[in-house]
Amino acid sequence: MNVRGILRSIAAETQKRLIVAIDGPAAAGKSTIARAIAQRLGFTYIDTGAMYRAVALWALRVGVDLDDLHRLEQLAKEARIEFAAGDIVLLNGEDVTSAIRETAVSVAASKVSMAPGVRRAMREEQRRIGSAHSVVMEGRDIGTVVFPDAIVKVYLDAAPEVRAGRRAAETGEMIEQIAEQIAERDHRDRTRTEAPLTQAPDAEYLDTTRLSPSEVEEAILKLVRERTSNGKERH
Ligand code: DC
Repeated sequence: MNVRGILRSIAAETQKRLIVAIDGPAAAGKSTIARAIAQRLGFTYIDTGAMYRAVALWALRVGVDLDDLHRLEQLAKEARIEFAAGDIVLLNGEDVTSAIRETAVSVAASKVSMAPGVRRAMREEQRRIGSAHSVVMEGRDIGTVVFPDAIVKVYLDAAPEVRAGRRAAETGEMIEQIAEQIAERDHRDRTRTEAPLTQAPDAEYLDTTRLSPSEVEEAILKLVRERTSNGKERH
């Protein structure tokens, strides 16, 4: 049986949805890898950064002060964030897939995600999704806080200059500017009080600096295989 079949039988036997958690700093390649792994395993791919970005976009649009924790929490609770086929992100029914990738939204998302009430609302929604589907979920706190019992946890990292270079190649922006933005966001994400970005003790650290996406994909699938044996989950 291939790894997809094994996972399906574990899920059926244990009546449990399976979670692959991928965390790491900005532009470490989490989305590309998580999407590919989800496809290989037949799981649902969830980009939790997109959820924080959607809340941030809404806050910017309605002019909520990013320090107003109470209003931010209200927005996060009211926001209807949905994922549709083709990696479409909907906010209250509107397609915001490209709007949430703008630089101003990246910065605002990093600030908005410091608010404990926002994190609570996002965490509840993420757990609800994970209880209904087997998922590959990527973010900053998936293996540490959202799903501490995930079957596989990966901490994806790469040298800062490589991360900035990859993002610059994607967006066409200046590498120096991107490097600065990423460093600032990472600092905020790592030092916040609530659910900061950190490697879970039982997460596998993967430095992708010198690896191709398919090498990273294979390394993670190997981990998934190692955690499953004859249709049984190994702890
Ligand atoms: O992964 P991303 O760059 O799209 O995430 C945008 C911001 O959202 C990031 O700066 C930190 C925050 N975030 C978070 O705090 N927790 C998550 N699980 C995912 C993202």
